[in-house]
Amino acid sequence: MTEEDVADLRQSLGKFATGVTVVTCRGDRGPCGITANSFSSVSLDPPLVLWNIAKVSHSLSAYLEAEYFAINVLGADQRDLSHHFAQSDHTVFNGIEYNSSDHGVPILLGTIACFECRTRQVHECGDHYIIIGEVERFRSNDGEPLLFYSGDYLRHGDKVGS
Ligand SMILES: Cc1cc2nc3c(=O)[nH]c(=O)nc-3n(C[C@H](O)[C@H](O)[C@H](O)COP(=O)(O)O)c2cc1C
Repeated sequence: MTEEDVADLRQSLGKFATGVTVVTCRGDRGPCGITANSFSSVSLDPPLVLWNIAKVSHSLSAYLEAEYFAINVLGADQRDLSHHFAQSDHTVFNGIEYNSSDHGVPILLGTIACFECRTRQVHECGDHYIIIGEVERFRSNDGEPLLFYSGDYLRHGDKVGS
């Protein structure tokens, strides 16, 4: 594919509106968090979910080695958290409030849902790895979701496609 084709593909893929999550784990050098919208449910029995991480991510090794991770689903008022964990230096948890799971994985506060997972499978796939986890604990709260569409966040009431 040409560079132009890749840009067109990216734009077309962006037409699929998603929620936004921060995937957290406990790395050798401390807590890690990365903004990800590749989260998807896979199976209810057993309860499996997946997300994808880019091979170029600075925290790739932490997630590939992590036995446990958590999917923190962001609410509409958590855009700052999404920005924070989309930076390259997203291993820094300074100023970020969180609890720790029984396995030491950071659990962000004020999210609308959280899935604590044990890593089950890792698949190398193109320029990403697919990470599949079994949900061991989960919870959800009321609240509007943070939504991502066409490369930007959607505000409540925004007209999609305009
Ligand atoms: C809304 C949104 C969704 C993202 N989804 C993913 C994703 O699913 N997987 C991924 O590897 N990076 C994703 N990213 C990019 C990472 O959050 C991060 O910007 C990137 O990994 C840069 O840091 P790093 O190179 O140190 O990992 C997303 C970014 C944003 C803003």
